Amino acid sequence: MELFDLIVLGGGPGGYNAAEKAAKGGLKTLLIEKRALGGVCLNEGCIPSKALLYSAKVLDYCHHGEAYGVTCGEATIDQKKVIARKARVVKTLVSGVASKMKKNGVKVVSAQGTIQGRGDEGFLVEAEGTVYCGKQMLICAGSEAVVPPIPGLREGLADGFVLTNREILDLDTIPEKLVVIGGGVIGLEMASYFNSVGSKVTVVEMLDKIAGPTDREISNILMNDYAKKGITFKLGCKVTEVGGGKVTFEENGQTQSVEADKVLCAIGRRPVTTGYGLETLHVELERGAIKTDEFMKTNVAGLYAAGDVNGKIMLAHTAYREGEVAVNNMLGKKDRMRYNAIPSVIYTNPEVGSVGETEESAKAKGYDVETVNLSMLYSGRYVAENEGGDGIVKVIVDKQYHRVLGVHMIANYAAEIIYGAAMMIETEATLDNLKEVVFPHPTVCEVIREALFEVQ
Ligand code: NAI
Repeated sequence: MELFDLIVLGGGPGGYNAAEKAAKGGLKTLLIEKRALGGVCLNEGCIPSKALLYSAKVLDYCHHGEAYGVTCGEATIDQKKVIARKARVVKTLVSGVASKMKKNGVKVVSAQGTIQGRGDEGFLVEAEGTVYCGKQMLICAGSEAVVPPIPGLREGLADGFVLTNREILDLDTIPEKLVVIGGGVIGLEMASYFNSVGSKVTVVEMLDKIAGPTDREISNILMNDYAKKGITFKLGCKVTEVGGGKVTFEENGQTQSVEADKVLCAIGRRPVTTGYGLETLHVELERGAIKTDEFMKTNVAGLYAAGDVNGKIMLAHTAYREGEVAVNNMLGKKDRMRYNAIPSVIYTNPEVGSVGETEESAKAKGYDVETVNLSMLYSGRYVAENEGGDGIVKVIVDKQYHRVLGVHMIANYAAEIIYGAAMMIETEATLDNLKEVVFPHPTVCEVIREALFEVQ
């Protein structure tokens, strides 16, 4: 039986990055992945959706060229070519991960791994008939789409009428009518794509707003923007049945329905904690997720968990960092996970970027808060590039210690800019320090600098 210092179960962003860092740190590391390296992020989430959304953006540019003095002729989209390009993008990146593992000496086993408990030397994991032993183990088993017991949903998934994030990213035809259940991140990004490429999109959301925890003013701007572009939003509506070419829901106590050629079910994801022998280790779970502390340790000595499986913040970049924290602790380096400066992005057009506290959450935590709310029209580059755009940025400041607590913005490039705000929060720089930082001009990020100078 081969003995490893570390067995990583699951090769998504949490797992492959941790395996690389562990091997670099001198640990003999085994990575077990049953599907493709890169996990949901690379294969059926972050990356393929960005490939599709970029195709939609190119199409949007063509359609709106007139506003910028450009006549493009008739622009059309070839969905099969879009999907083929997406597959090439995914393949490039997945093979990049594989070569990274090889370069760093991580052994990769491409098979289902099943935990068989603990032996004298460590954790036992069986894969393809071979049993491996790891002195320590990191679980990065990820999450899966929630499929609630709505009548017709499971049957719809079986016959292809209903899709999850996995199947919709391979759809090589454009549905005439798409109904999206759930106005969260996946729902909005896919609604945005199919709206751009010509589907009639309806988003049915249970809450009274889209984009979940996003600042309400920003989610309203996003919703109004997409309503103008033709998406129908049904807020406060609970889906009660799916099938017969329609989605049925309750709106103000009345039963309504909307016709659909395809339905996307995007109502959240849940950690995967069954099907791979986790129960043999008696791991403590919390609300269906593996319970971890700030070092990413579980209640079982030597067992760590990172990424969606611990249910804290289900984002690839959170998983990267959690995996690193786990490995650093294994290597005896002091490191702990902090969740107060994790950016989140919605890749709609315009993009939404957020990090840290909202005004509401900061007040609830007892901070003495000042909020600066600026129009994106304060940015020269934004005005030059966004005909008729009405983005905003909100900077939330702690008046007592003169530090940034949160930044929330809706404007293109927000996804690329928001890390700067995360740095402001993570480093706890004072406003005086931040005002000395020179931002490039003309840029969209300058609007954050502008906001800092507006603080009273
Ligand atoms: P989500 O949690 O973001 O949104 C689900 C939405 O569905 C919520 O607004 C909820 O109120 C609604 N909902 C729940 N049950 C419903 C029902 N029966 N009828 C109507 N609406 C209902 O989940 P989503 O969009 O599936 O995304 C899953 C995960 O993937 C999230 O953790 C997200 O952060 C991550 N993700 C992140 C992306 C990014 O960072 N850009 C992109 C895509 C996914």
